[in-house]
Amino acid sequence: MKVIVSAAVSIDGYLDDTSPERLVLSGAEDWAEVHRLRAECDAILVGAETLRKDNPALVIRDSVLRAERIARGQNPDQTKVTLSRTGRLSSDLRFFTEGEGEKVVFLQEPLPSTIHQLAEYASIISVPQLTASSIVNELERRGCHSLLIEGGSQVLDMFFKENRVDEFRLAIAPFFVGESGAPRLVHEGAFPFDKEHRMTLLEARKVGDMAVMHYKLEP
Ligand SMILES: NC(=O)c1ccc[n+]([C@@H]2O[C@H](COP(=O)([O-])OP(=O)(O)OC[C@H]3O[C@@H](n4cnc5c(N)ncnc54)[C@H](OP(=O)(O)O)[C@@H]3O)[C@@H](O)[C@H]2O)c1
Repeated sequence: MKVIVSAAVSIDGYLDDTSPERLVLSGAEDWAEVHRLRAECDAILVGAETLRKDNPALVIRDSVLRAERIARGQNPDQTKVTLSRTGRLSSDLRFFTEGEGEKVVFLQEPLPSTIHQLAEYASIISVPQLTASSIVNELERRGCHSLLIEGGSQVLDMFFKENRVDEFRLAIAPFFVGESGAPRLVHEGAFPFDKEHRMTLLEARKVGDMAVMHYKLEP
């Protein structure tokens, strides 16, 4: 399965600021590209904290993009995927209430007691040790050929550190956040792609007022 990461950051490398509202980093042109990228993938994954904080619907609304998916033999709605340890996920989140595609929640055993009510709204997959590989393997088993990962930090961290990313689309907004408590792209630690193992830059483009970089992560 092809795994693509798509993230937007401020010029100082933050995914968000510390305010309760979602920080808008992308401009209209960047959003249009991200929506197209989403529509090309079989599944989209975001972490539980992003669901709680931003409450994204993760639904393809554009009728042309939906028609293109149907023509390619894909379901018009993607499979939506999240992961959680605590199971602290309200069934009122738009992740569960919007779109006709399958919703999948990955959990690490032992299962939190609160999870049973969510089984009505999503497929619950529990594994003894939740890793990027276990998620990729299970989604592959369910027929997914492409997965788009949109964050946040913990999820990106997990997939980059385990070297389970094939392509990385990074959009940089032309402003600073300047708050050390804000979420960064990833957390500290060892990454397979470090100073001795550089990613391959496929292209760098101006998209509206954003700089968009496309990297290939070759083993
Ligand atoms: N700019 C962008 O492109 C972009 C995109 C997405 C998100 N964001 C921002 O990113 C921030 C959220 O990032 P975040 O790092 O705090 O959270 P996150 O990565 O969205 O989600 C973290 C949560 O995922 C679950 N999780 C992580 N690793 C797990 C594992 N190994 N096993 C089981 N569950 C696991 C845990 O859920 P539980 O707590 O439920 O156990 C954890 O709290 C928000 O501010 C959001 O706005 C920005």
